[in-house]
Amino acid sequence: MTVAAVLTAAGSGSRLGHSLPKALVSLGGQSLVAHAARNLLAARTAGDRHVQTLVVTAPAEHVAAVSDALAHLDVLVVPGGPTRQASVAAGLAALRSAPGSEDISVVLVHDAARPLAPPSLIARVVDAVLSGHHAVVPGLPVTDTVKQVEPGGPVELVVATVPRADLRAVQTPQGFSWELLSRAHATFAADADHESSAASDDAGLVERLGERVWVVAGDERAAKITTPRDLAVATLLLEADG
Ligand code: CTP
Ligand code: MG
Repeated sequence: MTVAAVLTAAGSGSRLGHSLPKALVSLGGQSLVAHAARNLLAARTAGDRHVQTLVVTAPAEHVAAVSDALAHLDVLVVPGGPTRQASVAAGLAALRSAPGSEDISVVLVHDAARPLAPPSLIARVVDAVLSGHHAVVPGLPVTDTVKQVEPGGPVELVVATVPRADLRAVQTPQGFSWELLSRAHATFAADADHESSAASDDAGLVERLGERVWVVAGDERAAKITTPRDLAVATLLLEADG
């Protein structure tokens, strides 16, 4: 019974707009992917479980650079795919052929785009899977009022106000029983090649299977870095933390 993880870092970061892939961009002197990998490997559950095998997906042409950025950590770097779903599938395939794969019972999927997700959050997700919840996502209450609209045009018609109390904004890492996530990716493999059909998160694939997904408390520190503003905010928070 071991815990493994796939860390996705194969995106280009087009909205961040750097010449480097987003995972290699520096946050306080360390790359985003190095922060995320360090936090994953530091997590300890109540029963002292930790991530024993970590696979990182890198852009195909940057595998060496990502390996260099993680040279101080015990990780395996593999090329990702054309979508996030395809990259996770590539990471799962690498886990399957890694030594000790027959002992994997829990798998986390995490994004390098959430570099400061703290070890306490990561452990909470693993603990929830170990307590019998086969698909677990961290989520935070939604604080904005949310309107559903008829999309299109500079002025859009409001169709409904969505009851906010029932909504959660979900984060990563997401945690799964190894069997369930493997089955979800195998079932929907044909959707992985195109952004239009691929799932934006792994829990979505589990939902498509008709299996239950559970939410545990998220953490503001697991915020996603998408835009230059997000990176600036993360830099300030890291400095404030000391
Ligand atoms: N990702 C990946 N493989 C892809 C696309 C995305 O592994 N083909 C990863 C990213 O590296 C990131 C996570 O999925 O850690 C979430 O994606 P996102 O925040 O959208 O990152 P990018 O796709 O790199 O950014 P953008 O969409 O702005 O280009
Ligand atoms: Mg993207």
